[in-house]
Amino acid sequence: MHISDIRRLTPAVQHLAYFQTSGFSPKPDPVVQTTIRWAIFQSQGPARADIHQRLAAMQTQVRQKVAASLNAHPDEIMLNENATVGINVVAHGIDWRPGDRVILSTHEHPGNRVTWYNLARRYGVRLVFLDATLPDADFLSELDRALDSQTRLVSLSHVSRRTGRRLPAREMVEVAHRHAVPVLLDAAQAYGAIPVDVQALGCDFYTVSGHKYIMGPQGTGALYVRRDRLDWLKPSWIGSHSQKDMDDQGYLAFQDGANRFEFGTRNLADQAGLGKALDLWAEIGWDHVFAYLEAYTDRLKAALKTIPGLVLETPLPYAQSSGIVTFHWPGLDAYALTARLLEEDGILVSPLSPTSPSVRVSTHVFNTDEEMDRLVAALQRSRA
Ligand SMILES: Cc1ncc(COP(=O)(O)O)c(C=O)c1O
Repeated sequence: MHISDIRRLTPAVQHLAYFQTSGFSPKPDPVVQTTIRWAIFQSQGPARADIHQRLAAMQTQVRQKVAASLNAHPDEIMLNENATVGINVVAHGIDWRPGDRVILSTHEHPGNRVTWYNLARRYGVRLVFLDATLPDADFLSELDRALDSQTRLVSLSHVSRRTGRRLPAREMVEVAHRHAVPVLLDAAQAYGAIPVDVQALGCDFYTVSGHKYIMGPQGTGALYVRRDRLDWLKPSWIGSHSQKDMDDQGYLAFQDGANRFEFGTRNLADQAGLGKALDLWAEIGWDHVFAYLEAYTDRLKAALKTIPGLVLETPLPYAQSSGIVTFHWPGLDAYALTARLLEEDGILVSPLSPTSPSVRVSTHVFNTDEEMDRLVAALQRSRA
């Protein structure tokens, strides 16, 4: 398996310059076929012990693959449907008191906002927003200043969805831990786009999507819960399969691992697809993926910088960025521009949000130099 195989195996990118992976990725055929195969297998009736056992064995392997991709232990991995589920597991795993504080940033996705806004309403939790445009050193000083005895959690993106900037995650964790405050990293935009090692980061919780840079099926994700935080986090939304042991009189012992947060009947075919996607990347080698993304986004940023009037918002060095490149053009409407790029040039990029003038281009290993040239030429024509 080579990087170029991903393009060959992904039908959706054959006729469209697909620069929208940070929204949702297209899916490689082997991922789709694996999901279908397991869906057919599962449909024979998991009530049969032989079917159930094979599904369970497959799920164990997927958990191991996700753990390996994060440098975690399988017991620290909850398999779920998306990054936001993981945020909710953490948010509802803390006994909140009025006046408790959570630290967020100004660049958080609604997934890492709505949950907290809701807690603010329900329990009087206070939210503190750090300015995610501050340079690293200032951002860390602001974080240090914001942490007080009532702060219960820091919940920040690993990669900003707005600019693609990598936040200084390891240092953020160090600062928060100096104040004995745990850290949840929202890694929806990091997982598969930049190297990730949860042990090196030292974070307490790390939540990921499988349907973005990993190119797994829609509705796949995972939450890492550091082993020593498993009992600290109170399971709020649980059920059958969360228990290791129970009786008819109220006795309950949870599963030892983060699988205690998984319960009820699940669609394991999707998880098989996620496992297949991780197999593809493992075969290619993550180092090759990140090297490609670095070289490609470097060239794209350099080309965009030559377009007069265009304001690049993404930091230049890949060490401070990811697969997201955002820009705006004073006076140019992001919606009109993205619609025109799609209609006239077969290029899929996205407006950042209904209220922002910015356009987001997200790159992956299936994007080619020809597509980049087409994008740059189309942008140059847009302004002419
Ligand atoms: C930073 C960030 N967090 C969370 C999410 C939500 O991800 P999911 O749909 O996997 O819950 C997104 C989606 O774009 C995101 O960019």
